[in-house]
Amino acid sequence: MHEFRYCRGRLVCEGTDLEMLARRYGTPLYVYSQATLASHCRRLMAALHPLDTLLCYAMKANSNLAVLSRLARLGSGFDTVSAGELYRALRAGGKASRCVFAGVGKTEAEIRYALRLGILAFHVESVAELRRIHAVAATLRRRAPVALRVNPDVVAGGHAKITTGTYENKFGIPWERALAIYEAAAKLSWIETVGVQMHIGSQITTVAPFAQAVRRLLPLVRALRDRFRIRYFSIGGGIGIVYRPALESGSPDWWRPGGARRAGRTALPLTIELYARTLVPLLRPLGMRILLEPGRFIVGNAGVLLTRVEYLKHLGRKNYVIVDAAMNDLLRPAFYDSYHQIVPLRERMPGRGTAVDVVGPVCESGDFLAKDRILPELQEGDHLAVMSAGAYGFTMASNYNSRPRPAEVLVHGKRSLLVRRRETFADLVRGERK
Ligand code: LLP
Repeated sequence: MHEFRYCRGRLVCEGTDLEMLARRYGTPLYVYSQATLASHCRRLMAALHPLDTLLCYAMKANSNLAVLSRLARLGSGFDTVSAGELYRALRAGGKASRCVFAGVGKTEAEIRYALRLGILAFHVESVAELRRIHAVAATLRRRAPVALRVNPDVVAGGHAKITTGTYENKFGIPWERALAIYEAAAKLSWIETVGVQMHIGSQITTVAPFAQAVRRLLPLVRALRDRFRIRYFSIGGGIGIVYRPALESGSPDWWRPGGARRAGRTALPLTIELYARTLVPLLRPLGMRILLEPGRFIVGNAGVLLTRVEYLKHLGRKNYVIVDAAMNDLLRPAFYDSYHQIVPLRERMPGRGTAVDVVGPVCESGDFLAKDRILPELQEGDHLAVMSAGAYGFTMASNYNSRPRPAEVLVHGKRSLLVRRRETFADLVRGERK
């Protein structure tokens, strides 16, 4: 579900015309819909309401201060993975007591920073890290709240680079050893075990891996609750979203943004209601607080990347549409071969399209936003929207090729707010000297 649709032939976000935003703020431009963010947040909370839940939004997906502050106001806490993210969460108005700190490589300085802030818990990924947290806590004479990240060894996740729940990747401690490690942790005087955590991967589009992982960990979680009085079970994030809309056969995929809704069909076998229906009965009997760490589900379909067609070019059999957004602005296609629907800002009636590669100006063959994509006839100066770019879009952007990073705009109804200005050339060299 999202708030991007054609209205009188023009693509709008809520009540705001996107071409107007492209002209006012320039391109490439990230645009986020506040109503979409809020509705995803509320839907998730409503679906899981039989449980005592705390939403800890995984801010690596999108950490713009405006996005974080809107979510904090809705009651969300934050799943952070660096001291920098903790800093952002607080700057946005988040409470440290609702922040968890995850990641396999926390430095001593980061641990100290988080301890001083008084975070909800460290999500600990190894025995070595546990020892380090204990040592830092001892020097500060402050008990460190921890939850161990248990790897349930379950296969899940859409792409090899984003599965995390098996032993073939670096995350967590093996679930067979978890009890022994909790026992060791309980003997450390500056450690307090407050929870247990799992996260099996990202962009998961069926409910089965979640159910399998939760079932696998349930006996352990019960034992930890009874023996160590842990208070919460975090079931991580990973809920997948619709990137490729399900369209009636024969209609081009540039025709309707997020066509699934219009087609009246569910494009994904996983809905939030199914997720809740499956997991609530498993989790409720625990009588514990359940933490959720969704990132993509909250923001993915709440954002688009607007770009302008610079050139059209033909090489052999190939047609290229060269746009002003590149892999440095949106890395996902280049990095994961991921699909993002691309639609023109001015509606085109379905007709004959042409197969094109949509590419950026960066000097790499891997710099593309779409390959062999059927798009309508385009001209220099046309604007396009790259859909579902709200998660892992701007946060993975870089200055590669000395390209200033794009501006970000948050739309609320008919109002739009510039929530990050476009970078300048001066920003590019900030901190450098000759
Ligand atoms: N919790 C933990 C411990 C995580 O590692 C992650 C994501 C999340 C929660 C949030 O997962 P989500 O609900 O967003 O699926 N850059 C990749 C995705 C990397 C995900 C990393 N961890 C992409 O663009 O697809």
